[in-house]
Amino acid sequence: MLAETFYVTDVDIQWERPQDPTHGDIATPVALQCSKKTGQSPRVIAEKLVDALSAEDSIEKAEVAGPGYVNIWLTPEALIESLGNVRTACTQTIKQEKEAPIIFDYSSPNIAKPFGIHHILSTVIGQSLVNVNRHLGYNTIAINHLGDWGTQFGKLAVALERWGDKQLDECSLDDLLALYVRFHEEAEKDNSLEDAGREAFKKLEQGDQELQRFWQGVVDITMNEMQSLYDRLHVSFDYTQGESFYEDKMQVVIDEGKEKGVFKEGEGGALIVEFPEESNLPPSIVVKADGATIYLTRDLATILYRISTIHPQAISYVVDVAQSLHFKQLFTTVEMLGWELPRLEHVVFGRMSFADKSMSTRKGNILKLQEVLDEANKRAKAVIKEHGDKIQTDDVDGLAEMMGQGAVVYGVLSQNRKMDMVFDWDKALSFDGNSAPYLQYTHARAKSIMEKAEGVSEIDNIDSLSAKERLLLNTLLQFDGVLHETQQSNMPHILAHYLYELCRDYNSFYNDNPILKAEEPARSFRVHLTNLTADVLKTGANLLTISVPDRM
Ligand code: ARG
Repeated sequence: MLAETFYVTDVDIQWERPQDPTHGDIATPVALQCSKKTGQSPRVIAEKLVDALSAEDSIEKAEVAGPGYVNIWLTPEALIESLGNVRTACTQTIKQEKEAPIIFDYSSPNIAKPFGIHHILSTVIGQSLVNVNRHLGYNTIAINHLGDWGTQFGKLAVALERWGDKQLDECSLDDLLALYVRFHEEAEKDNSLEDAGREAFKKLEQGDQELQRFWQGVVDITMNEMQSLYDRLHVSFDYTQGESFYEDKMQVVIDEGKEKGVFKEGEGGALIVEFPEESNLPPSIVVKADGATIYLTRDLATILYRISTIHPQAISYVVDVAQSLHFKQLFTTVEMLGWELPRLEHVVFGRMSFADKSMSTRKGNILKLQEVLDEANKRAKAVIKEHGDKIQTDDVDGLAEMMGQGAVVYGVLSQNRKMDMVFDWDKALSFDGNSAPYLQYTHARAKSIMEKAEGVSEIDNIDSLSAKERLLLNTLLQFDGVLHETQQSNMPHILAHYLYELCRDYNSFYNDNPILKAEEPARSFRVHLTNLTADVLKTGANLLTISVPDRM
């Protein structure tokens, strides 16, 4: 139509959902876009467009708004027809053509060191992105790049030998952490300890059998406990391949770097990499003077291994913003090495603090994930009790765990990951805010209606829509687009925010429009909308790793 009326063919038409739902189902500034090209006034173009659009069968009404916007109301029939897309968006896409994989490197805690808040963030953000990518049919590989190599093992071996009161295989993760903390306290008084730790790690690197067994024992103890936390969080990986896995894969990279002149001799015989001036990056060590490799060296070997065995189209590292310099140096180094690279992205996230003082005053930003989940469970139970008969469940424990896990995860995922976030228990567990329980409760409400409705029948003869029906329908129709937007930006809060809006629009529809008591055909239609809402909420929540109950 644009081409015929205005001789404009090369406009990328923008479609928007009006902020105010009374301004139609869709809006477009296309008249403003065309006016730049044709020199005509946008208002005139918009008026002509409105005339032409009004003649279309699928359009109920079109209006000019503001300086040249066109607002469009679709016919109920056209809107309802599109609902099929929403149903499709709830099922996993199976792509015909097999594409190169997208790797997500996330969680990646450090063995024999405390699990930090940033690891919780990486774990839940990473898993939700993996889920969304898989759902949209991308070949996605989830990797836990454990920090399972480094001087901390030497320190721990020294600590166990000096102050341990039991054998390693009798130690819990807490015992190991206590030893780790003790080592650092004692090292402040006794300088020789650090050296002893380094020495022990060196022996481990050289293949000392006893230390190897010790290392394996520590990894096993940690991973056993981690596994139960991952289970509680609905997190799983395709590969758990930590830094130790690359111990024998670094030499080739070091040789190649030297050969290509990328790694140069630095002070005292260390090997360093210097970056081009325009990159503004400080030089980095690749191999220390004593021959030890570092985090960066292992990450270089990791990229090489991944590109040669997995051939990914992208690698996304879901890691704390505090490591920005590391990833800039890493990405620049691999470019300098001239490797054929996939898309590399550091998916950063900010700091998280707790509104609750007792959780934020801990030393060193260290918080035990298990304590957080247990606290969430306890608080959820209290909330369930408080609501008395308003919450229906035969399984208080199961519901409390579901709400608690949901509250923690949603509390993280509903915030823009690039900003610093504040976690607030009251908000996270509230029943009428932007929270997991609100989502879970709305899902259960829709499910209970479905149960009473006894089946969904075909929609027919809907020739007008109530304001709330139209609003809900339009929100449902956004689902597919929201999933793609979340995937493209790697921003889970886009999906979380959408689910919140859907709950809000469903609840306001529910409050304004009788469903089961409505006359036909409205009854069938409203049951249909309810059913679809429940499906979208469940699909979306599960992608965010959150479960929703059928009853609550
Ligand atoms: N273990 C690291 C840490 O806790 C995070 C690892 C991230 N992944 C990577 N390939 N560097 O700080």
